[in-house]
Amino acid sequence: MSIVTNKQLLDRGLAGHYAVAAFNTNNLEYTQAILQAATELNAPVIIEAAKSEIDYMDGYVFVAMVRAMAEKLPIPVSIHLDHGPSYEEAIRCLRYGFTSVMYDGSSLPLAENIANTKKVVEAAHACGVSVEGEIGVIGQAEDGPEGPKQEFTGLADPDQCEEFVKKTGVDCFAAAIGNAHGLYKNKPLLRFDLLTQIEKRTGVPLVLHGGTGIPEEDIRKAITLGVSKINFSTVMRKGFIETLTATLNSSPGDLDLMKLLTPARMKMVEIAKHHIKMCMSDGKAWK
Ligand code: 13P
Repeated sequence: MSIVTNKQLLDRGLAGHYAVAAFNTNNLEYTQAILQAATELNAPVIIEAAKSEIDYMDGYVFVAMVRAMAEKLPIPVSIHLDHGPSYEEAIRCLRYGFTSVMYDGSSLPLAENIANTKKVVEAAHACGVSVEGEIGVIGQAEDGPEGPKQEFTGLADPDQCEEFVKKTGVDCFAAAIGNAHGLYKNKPLLRFDLLTQIEKRTGVPLVLHGGTGIPEEDIRKAITLGVSKINFSTVMRKGFIETLTATLNSSPGDLDLMKLLTPARMKMVEIAKHHIKMCMSDGKAWK
């Protein structure tokens, strides 16, 4: 199959009532694990990297790596910038060869977020690249003493979501509905009432960030309300680090790096498969 855009993946997900799993990556083993999991499940998949991850790998190296691995696989794969912090970073990613970029202006006043996102949409769409925006602020789960709650600040406002989509032309956007990145301290209380209104008033595929720790029934419910992309990061890193730690502890003095890394990579394959199945995108790759 080939490298595709997020729009191609998400429009199909929305129509087919499933979400495409998007996994962050920052190295070779991580990327291999995501692609192995998606291939074994015949699932479309999004490989994404935030600015810090891109800086760590180098944008050109990252895109070349994903393309070299994915081009020979029978599944559609998109290469996405996660939480792009600026117009300039989005433009750099267009040059690297990403097929989708996120511009995250969620901490700015709405008018500024709209103006900046629109500029990114104009440039990206001229290159055939999809754009994801953000409304409401999706923070870190560990920031609150008890984790995100009903009264979680920074929730997306449906009026603002409608205006944002109309004025920017984004292909999809992330709405803050009580979700957060990292490890939730308590079960997250997602505001499905808000999601229902946002879906009705925007009509574009919605993105759920902070996928780590969201229970399967909530993932499934979010998908029925228009969520077509779900981001997972912490859960993969946690599995890798725990497995690598156990391997290192049980193999003192072993200097075979490939042998030491393999169990951690295989743990990531298992975790990615579990989350792809939660998103119901297994078997959804097309020819
Ligand atoms: P988690 O690390 O909570 O899975 O969130 C990932 C994410 O939303 C990346 O944007």
